[in-house]
Amino acid sequence: MAPTALRQAEAVQSRAPTPEGALEALSDARNRTFTLVAHLDDEQLAETHSSIMSPLAWDLAHIAAYEDLWISHRHAGMELLRADLAERYDAFETPRSIRGEIELLDPSQAREYMTDVRTRAAKALKGVGTGDGTICEMVVRHELQHSETMRQTMALAGLLPPGEPCLPTVDGEDEWIDVPAGTFEMGAGRDDFAYDNERPRHTVELGPFQIARRPVTNASRPGASGDPDAPVCHISWHEADELARAQGARLPSEAEWEKAAKLGVLDGVGVVWEWTSSFFGPYPGFEAHPYKEYSEVFFGEGYRVLRGGSWATSPRVKTLTFRNWDLPIRRQIFAGLRLARDAA
Ligand code: AVJ
Ligand code: FE
Repeated sequence: MAPTALRQAEAVQSRAPTPEGALEALSDARNRTFTLVAHLDDEQLAETHSSIMSPLAWDLAHIAAYEDLWISHRHAGMELLRADLAERYDAFETPRSIRGEIELLDPSQAREYMTDVRTRAAKALKGVGTGDGTICEMVVRHELQHSETMRQTMALAGLLPPGEPCLPTVDGEDEWIDVPAGTFEMGAGRDDFAYDNERPRHTVELGPFQIARRPVTNASRPGASGDPDAPVCHISWHEADELARAQGARLPSEAEWEKAAKLGVLDGVGVVWEWTSSFFGPYPGFEAHPYKEYSEVFFGEGYRVLRGGSWATSPRVKTLTFRNWDLPIRRQIFAGLRLARDAA
């Protein structure tokens, strides 16, 4: 996808929507979630397919628990619909590795919970309004982000819906682009919705560097399967780092990636997540908002940043400033890489 399409995605969301506008966005996300799992039976939804992922039914009920917590409870001041479920469906209290071992709602109960929570959220929003719109947008994007997480689980289990994965080829040459030294403004501005980790926008000075016009494709991976013009996908950070070195190059830092992406010189952005050399850390002046467990608890040298988005990422989520992160050993993400090197 061209960077301009990403910029348009940022404009999709208007600040402070009416309750009806917010509910329409929530409803659109919900249709996507239900469509995604429509081909699966209850057993497939309840099963633990991978020890590093949740049962899909956990994601479903978690989506509802998150919505109830943020819209009806914290935003509108109502009691939780199911306080007894809060801990089980809190991502932090109940890590992925044990989600298959505890008692969960079965898939039809999970669907019912989702629908009941939505009915309350609609009442809540009509009662108190949407405030500045941040909470609703966060809840919409949360559900959309989980549809990518669920696709990762489904990909591991061979259960993606018909027609997926739809990993397009990226045509064109493996060409180097020269990016001159200089400053740029990194991070999200004040006006559009952004996550806390994208803020504040700050000036970054970079030396000159070169970056590849397109992501690394299967053609440059000896012995790899797949269309030679399709980007390499499902590789770990370690593999990406090694692949870059094997070609006499390196991974871009996330600052280099964002500068090049904002210049609009990259092709294939948004097809596969692109591993960067950067650890996931706070920008200078970072403030956790609205909760520490979205970003702050992951800061440090444990996680590497990925940029751009994949075929499975909603256009509403994949902006040029969005920062994704994962452990460097993980391959379930729809992730590849783009090469960079120091200026000649
Ligand atoms: C931004 C994709 C790393 O999956 O942990 C979902 C998104 N945060 N629920 C994650 C998220 C809370 C997050 N990532
Ligand atoms: Fe979540």
